[in-house]
Parts: sequence; C-alpha cells; structure tokens
Amino acid sequence: MNDLKISIDRVFDFVSENEIQGLFSDLEVQNKALHEKTGKGNEFLGWVNLPSSTTNDEIQSILTVVEDLRSEVEYIVVIGIGGSYLGSKAVTEALSDSFHNNLPQNGYPHILFAGHQLSEDYHYELLDFLKDRQFGVIVISKSGTTTEPAIAFRLLRNEIERKLGREKAAKRIIAVTDAAKGVLRSVADREGYKTFIIPDDVGGRYSVLTPVGLLPVAMAGFDIRRLMDGARKMEEISGLATRHDQNPCMIYAAARYALFRNYFEIEMLVNYHPKLHFLADWWKQLFGESEGKDQTGIFPAAADLTTDLHSMGQYIQEGRRNIFETVISVVNTRHILSIPEDSNDEDKLNFLSGKRISEVNRMAELGTCIAHVEGGVPVIRIEIPRIDEYYLGQLIYFFEKACGLSGYLLGVNPFDQPGVEAYKNNMFALLGKPGYEKLTEEIRKGL
Ligand code: PA5
Repeated sequence: MNDLKISIDRVFDFVSENEIQGLFSDLEVQNKALHEKTGKGNEFLGWVNLPSSTTNDEIQSILTVVEDLRSEVEYIVVIGIGGSYLGSKAVTEALSDSFHNNLPQNGYPHILFAGHQLSEDYHYELLDFLKDRQFGVIVISKSGTTTEPAIAFRLLRNEIERKLGREKAAKRIIAVTDAAKGVLRSVADREGYKTFIIPDDVGGRYSVLTPVGLLPVAMAGFDIRRLMDGARKMEEISGLATRHDQNPCMIYAAARYALFRNYFEIEMLVNYHPKLHFLADWWKQLFGESEGKDQTGIFPAAADLTTDLHSMGQYIQEGRRNIFETVISVVNTRHILSIPEDSNDEDKLNFLSGKRISEVNRMAELGTCIAHVEGGVPVIRIEIPRIDEYYLGQLIYFFEKACGLSGYLLGVNPFDQPGVEAYKNNMFALLGKPGYEKLTEEIRKGL
C-alpha cells in the first residue's frame, strides 16, 4: 500500500537544497528528543507513541459504548473547543458524504457540535432543533473548566434531564476528561456518566488519537482501527530507524523552516477537496498554538481551492511575497462522475466531454501550482492516495510529528500555550467572575 508522499521540488527556486539538507542533522537530534522525551515540553510527549501503544482493549471499550448508545439516539452533540473539538470535526467531515450524512440513516447517529463558540443564536437554534428529537451528548474537556463547553453542557444537560429525568439522562451523557481533576470529572463521577480519560501527557491539540477524537469518530460510524493503523504506519515511517531523506516529517519541517528563514512567514495549507476544510482548521490550531510564541512562528493560513482562487487567488498570485503554499493532493476520488456531451455545445464545454471532474480538478491543481511558483510562491506538495480513515491517520500523525520538530527548530516549546489565557482573563473580569475584581477595575479604567 502506498504511503503519504511529500515533494519539495518546487521550493528550490526560493531556498537551496543545501540549506534544507543542512537542517537534517539538527532534526535527527530533535526527533530523538521527541522519542526519548528529553526536549522542551517533555511532559506532553505522550502523543509520540500513542498509535503503537493504544491497546485493542482501549479501542474496544470505545466501540462498546458506541454500540450501547447508537440505536437509542438520532443525534449526538459533541461538546468541546480547540483541541477537544477540531480533531473529531476534521475527521468526521473528511469522511462524511456531503449530503446523505445530514440524515441519520446509516445506523449511526448524526454528529452535531457545540461548545466551540459563544453564539446565542447557535445555541438557541440547536436546542430548538433537538427539542423533539432523541439525542445524547459527548462532553469533552481536559481541564473540565473551559467556559464555552461548560455553558453548552449546562444547556444540553438541562434539556436531556428535562426530557428524560436525571437518571435516564445520565445514560445518554459520556464525558471525556482528566482522570481526577476538574469540575467535569466531579460531575461525571457524581452523576454516574460513562467516562473516558485524556492522558495527562497529551495536550489538547495532540489529542485526536485519544478518546477525544476516537469516540466521536466511532460514534459517527467510521473505522477508528483503520485510523490508528494509518497513524501507526506514520509513527513507524517517521521513527528513529528511518533515514532523514525517507522521513516525510523531517523533510516537511526542514523545508518550511528554511522558507521561514528566507522571509516566507505565512504558510497556506490548500486543498482541492472541500471535505478537507476542517482538517485545515485542525492543522491551523496545531501549528499556530505550537509555534506562535516568543515573538516568532510561521503564520498558519488555509484556503479551499478552487473556491478561494476566485477570492484569495489574486493576492496569492501577486500580493506581498511572504506566502508559501502546502498542497494536500488527493490522487483518487471516492466516486466517478464524467462531464456529459451536449449536442449544441452552447456552453462551449464539449472539449471536456467524457472527462472526469477529477481530471479537471487535477489540471486546476497543476496549473495553479505552476502559476503560483512563477508568481513567487514556493509550493510543498503532500500526496495521499485517497481520503479514508487510513490516510487521515497518516496525515494526522505526519502533521503532529512535523509540528513537534518544527517547534524545536524554531527554539520554542511546541507543547504549551501560555498566550491563550489572556482573552479568558479579560472576559472573566468583564463578566464579574469572583476573584477577578482587580482586573475588572483596571480594564474599566481603560475603557
Ligand atoms: O490545545 C489546547 O490545549 C486547547 O486548544 C484546548 O484543547 C482547549 O482550550 C480546550 O481545553 P479543554 O479541553 O481543557 O476544555
């Protein structure tokens, strides 16, 4: 079976191959530091061996819970934010049928998301939608105290308890949280919810291959064993036994860091398949939160092509020359659809008759790549044979490993996120949370 491939040929007009090669000895050291848990942030390196260390029993316990609940509910609301949301959103969106999955007809509940923002209308409309429907909740929070999911959980828990009573409601709620700490843990223990644990040594944005991602993905009816198989293959490929020129994570980390040193400070992850839109959102958090600190870091942006070529295309082609592009290229589609012949050819499209839409998409991708390189945008290409559980597993681990290595190249701790507290403190102060009185006073003075 082919594995994920990376090609960096189209960056050599902008940085020399030698400059990239020169980074590999550092990367060998950093890869060792990740595996031997000796680098910065080493208390959060549990993700490095997750694919190979997750046991069959752990997977089975997730599948058992899914079997118990799936026939009882039409909808499952997955509550979480950031790393407790983006991974399962990315995988379920990538694997779902674009239309049929809006109906809970494949024997698994349809997955809805909440707790990832504070829109009153969204929450009102969600409760309104669910009021006459059978639903369950998977609430995910490592800290167990994050405001957005806590609010969504309070609303949805009230709604299930109103409908079913507290005891029956408890059978429809599953919590994924810390083994011992946090409010969610105490509530879950008191109410008797089924729970799964987020390991202490795995940070939010690296947690998609724990129950944080696996439970919602399995609940949507997708094959989490294949997801883990793909991730395990990438763990092996990117491990210490692989030479650097065969290690796609090192090649990616080296190319993007060399570009960054040459003033390409924005990386745009682009796809030609709308199903990958949320994978890019997950990737933005992974790299943004891991690298964006100590006044450094590559800014992670994303575009869905060809859609965004009709909006962002002009800037990418001719705007400020500080962008490089990383394309996720998918070789095979899931379905086959050709463009029909038209006897009048009024729309002048008969030159495409009989051609697959994927062939047109592929030429759009190649044509765009050539145009962007000529316009001054270096292009890295990551190729997967198809979008399925196995290759999503490979992609997830590929980006996680590359992100750890990239963070170390930049000299930052890629596993902390001190900056995310700033907005929370101000929000709590403005809302009058007990304990924030001094900050409230300071902010009010400045308003
Ligand atoms: O990556 C991270 O650590 C964050 O994005 C968290 O996942 C996010 O803030 C949610 O935190 P929690 O799971 O504690 O509710």
